[in-house]
Amino acid sequence: MQATKLKDLHTPCLLIEQSKLKQNISYLSEHIGALGCVIRPHVKTHKSVDITQLIVDAGNTQGITVSTLKEAKHFFAAGYTDILYAVGIVPNKFAAVQSLMEQGCKITVILDSLELAKLLGEYADTQQVVFNVLIELDVDKHRAGVNPHSQTLLDIAYALHHQSYTQLQGVMTHAGGSYECFEKSSQLALARQERDLSLLAAERIRAEGIACKTVSIGSTPTAFAIDDLSGITEVRAGVYVLFDLVMSGLGVCKIDDIAISVMGSIIGFQKEKQMALCDAGWMAMSRDRGTAGHKIDQGYGLICDKNGALIANMLMTSANQEHGIISMRKANTQRGKSTDFPFALFSIGDLIRILPNHACATAAQYNHFYLVDGDKVIKTLPSISGW
Ligand SMILES: Cc1ncc(COP(=O)(O)O)c(C=O)c1O
Repeated sequence: MQATKLKDLHTPCLLIEQSKLKQNISYLSEHIGALGCVIRPHVKTHKSVDITQLIVDAGNTQGITVSTLKEAKHFFAAGYTDILYAVGIVPNKFAAVQSLMEQGCKITVILDSLELAKLLGEYADTQQVVFNVLIELDVDKHRAGVNPHSQTLLDIAYALHHQSYTQLQGVMTHAGGSYECFEKSSQLALARQERDLSLLAAERIRAEGIACKTVSIGSTPTAFAIDDLSGITEVRAGVYVLFDLVMSGLGVCKIDDIAISVMGSIIGFQKEKQMALCDAGWMAMSRDRGTAGHKIDQGYGLICDKNGALIANMLMTSANQEHGIISMRKANTQRGKSTDFPFALFSIGDLIRILPNHACATAAQYNHFYLVDGDKVIKTLPSISGW
């Protein structure tokens, strides 16, 4: 029977607070819409068709972005036909992409080397199937991509344009360096850099007489910061729908905007160690310690009561596979002593909610979530994992 109250659920489990989810979705939809652009939602954060439908219903979207071919297959089966696979393509995935195309999926792949452009071209020739491609740009020295000023960019564009069965659609980038931007001003500066370098790359390709229709950019911090999207054809963002402690640490959201939490049960107390134990360890939270380098390190997560109200200074300070260690934040004194643990707050079996560091990493630990409204369980949302 479908659970109707939090107390009917087994712990650990993953909760998504409906009102916060909807508020986060509509905020970005309106912001990007007001700038005359559209979002290509990145579904890797939640891997849920139901949540994606809410994003689409909010408006100002086109297609979706995926990070695995499993996501591509899953969402295609659910009716999403316009898909950007936004991790560099490699030959062992050519056939799977081809198979999706042959079933009617308009899937686009990305690459950032001449070598791969040629390998894809050779494969496409043998199959006589046209592959749609975006060239990945590096706009902030964060991860992958070619330098927008480089000759390599043009060499790849030439190759894709002149090969018989590869179609250059445009350029894309992800300014992941925004996860290191702690000020609104640096987020805006990087957002403009992401936009301007992408537009520059597109213009350089066009100046060679090669069409470059798509200019796709995005990360949650830059999508929230950007103030002008002229020339940009789509913005990709994922984590904003749930938000997390990394995003609140950057000031992109407030802690109160975080829609995702892991619900655990208190399983014991260690009074002499001033700590409680819960049944949500790192399997339930993930190993992600994304706030470790922040001014405020949130451990493995912040503790809330079962209704989601934050308990001041209480966090998961350490995690074993299926045990979470809950203690008080060390007071900022010379001896670094923690405040006394408020044992009177809890009894064995009590439910708590834990706000995670990184929504994508935590959500990926589960194959379903519970959409909730306070204490009420509205719906079970299936999700997928794996490759
Ligand atoms: C290629 C690409 N695009 C878009 C995103 C979305 O970024 P965010 O999760 O900050 O919204 C990611 C996230 O890692 C990404 O890898």
